[in-house]
Amino acid sequence: MEANKSTKGTSQHLPSMCQQVSLFARNFFKHPKMLGSIIPSSPFLVKSMLDQVNWEQARVLVEYGPGVGTFTQEILRRMHPEATLIVLETNEDFVEFLNQAFTDPRMEVIHDSAENIQSILTQRELSDADYVISGIPFSTLPGDIKENILRATQKALKADGAFLLYQFSPTILPDLHRTFSSVDRSFQPLNLLPAHYYYCAP
Ligand SMILES: C[S@@+](CC[C@H](N)C(=O)[O-])C[C@H]1O[C@@H](n2cnc3c(N)ncnc32)[C@H](O)[C@@H]1O
Repeated sequence: MEANKSTKGTSQHLPSMCQQVSLFARNFFKHPKMLGSIIPSSPFLVKSMLDQVNWEQARVLVEYGPGVGTFTQEILRRMHPEATLIVLETNEDFVEFLNQAFTDPRMEVIHDSAENIQSILTQRELSDADYVISGIPFSTLPGDIKENILRATQKALKADGAFLLYQFSPTILPDLHRTFSSVDRSFQPLNLLPAHYYYCAP
């Protein structure tokens, strides 16, 4: 299913894992509710989530809350050479970090909230998204922001697209069922904390 097995054509200047974890942890102490976790996701969770994507077909991908780019790096490795990745991040330190670490021309990092996904795609004359992949900690966000993001995401997806997200508790499940036509749930224990992950069809 992988469209782009090599990193040829992509450009990355990734700082060491230690520097990434350190930047992430420092930001956790500044904004614990916005991050929801003290360290980035494990490679096991990244693989479990991204194995659900049809990489051959996907042309418009969106990532919410990339942090230091743990998912971003693997999305760029797998995605089609003609696909576009829009990355939305509210934390200025992470935006600056991502812009220095990744210079892949298929990707744009935007300092904005996931709530604005529809206008962001429209401004770029992009069609609806094939996949939205989220690292946002919904359980620690204010309820109205969570609601706005879920509703905007459902509207921003193609009819055969999907919203992929993980959470550390299943409390979001009723919100997902209310907003999306179908919700598949799975569990990845090899992560700190163990994660519930979901595949939602619009
Ligand atoms: C737990 S971190 C996830 C980092 C990374 N995706 C991972 O899995 O390791 C959550 C990220 O969501 C970002 N975030 C929180 N609210 C957001 C929003 N409304 N729009 C976009 N990003 C947001 C935070 O700044 C943070 O970088």
